[in-house]
Amino acid sequence: METNQLLALTEQFGNPIYVYDATKIQSQYHKLEQAFKNVNSLRINYAVKALSNLSVLKLLKQLGSGLDTVSIQEVQLGLMAGYSPEKIIYTPNGVSMEEIEEVAALGVQINIDNLSILEQFGTKHPKTPVCIRINPHVMAGGNSNISVGHIDSKFGISIHQMPHLLRIVSNTGMRINGIHMHTGSDILDIEVFLYAAEILFNTAIQFKNLEFIDFGSGFKVPYKADDIETDIEELGKKLTKRFNNFCTEYGSELTLCFEPGKFLVSQSGYFLAKVNVVKQTTSTVFAGVDSGFNHLIRPMLYNSYHHIQNISNPNGKERFYSVVGYICETDTFAGNRRITEITEGDILCFYNAGAYCFSMASNYNSRTRPAEVLWYENQGYLIRESETFDDIVRKQIVMDFDVLNAAV
Ligand SMILES: Cc1ncc(COP(=O)(O)O)c(C=O)c1O
Repeated sequence: METNQLLALTEQFGNPIYVYDATKIQSQYHKLEQAFKNVNSLRINYAVKALSNLSVLKLLKQLGSGLDTVSIQEVQLGLMAGYSPEKIIYTPNGVSMEEIEEVAALGVQINIDNLSILEQFGTKHPKTPVCIRINPHVMAGGNSNISVGHIDSKFGISIHQMPHLLRIVSNTGMRINGIHMHTGSDILDIEVFLYAAEILFNTAIQFKNLEFIDFGSGFKVPYKADDIETDIEELGKKLTKRFNNFCTEYGSELTLCFEPGKFLVSQSGYFLAKVNVVKQTTSTVFAGVDSGFNHLIRPMLYNSYHHIQNISNPNGKERFYSVVGYICETDTFAGNRRITEITEGDILCFYNAGAYCFSMASNYNSRTRPAEVLWYENQGYLIRESETFDDIVRKQIVMDFDVLNAAV
């Protein structure tokens, strides 16, 4: 999107604000589809956790996407957006048996990642087909908080537990119709991905009734100019060849599934916040914005990089700034960052704000969460109003101590 379009949206809808460019979501979806065009049956299940706004889910539905969900609430959002239950996979971690049963009763594909629940579920519901999340013990992912396939990870059933897993399947008579892995986010090296895929193929061959193999996600997108990204075309070529050979060996045409979050929505998003104060200290110049990690937690949570541009003064002289938020703790979006000269009142644009930004936002410091806008066919549509103080207090029940004390 053009910076003048973004500025105009802040004038129309206020700030801070998240803006998502539908065209980018569409082009990323088509790019992935195109990379795997030689797979007979491909299914892309968008990872709802990345950005769960109903209008975004509906946009992805139009493209033919399914959904990857991790909570019953995400399943409900998917159904509300018009997805049929068969287009939804549910991959929870550490949730109760009751929630899993509730989701299964809706007709959604269940993906189980531990032996205890697998045994309980298989015993009670042997006829419900189940996918199994395998932990291939491959160290993939951009940093330790988003690497989930390694030996110490809480996710998935270890490949070393295969004998136990197979015993549960045979004892309960349950049907395993899918095998899944998700090794982590921000994977740079496709060879690591392909290595983990090999482990998954070796596991898959041991099950006779598979309908699909789900390779999860973790594709890295660029965060700045010249940044490395997952080579999706190369992965498409290599994995397609291997997958098609596997289907021949397996003796049936399986569906290849992915569940990307970041790949589909990260680059579509812009977060726009106004500079409240420019503060020169003895060591640095701070630009303090009308926001904080309550709205964009990724830099504080994973040290993630968001390119920041002063869209009110895009051609100004560059200076170095620390861009900080208003939360009363360390709240740094970027340190020592070269940005065109900032004046109080300017609008800063944070790039790659589509994935894990609004969906991780909170009301910390009793702040409201901003509005969301979808830029669709050259027009901005408000897809979530900004919260008000009423939203902060809505669920609170205020005790009346005067009445209580008088009753004693
Ligand atoms: C099981 C599962 N699938 C898919 C994703 C999406 O990953 P990404 O946003 O890196 O594509 C995640 C992210 O945490 C996940 O846990």
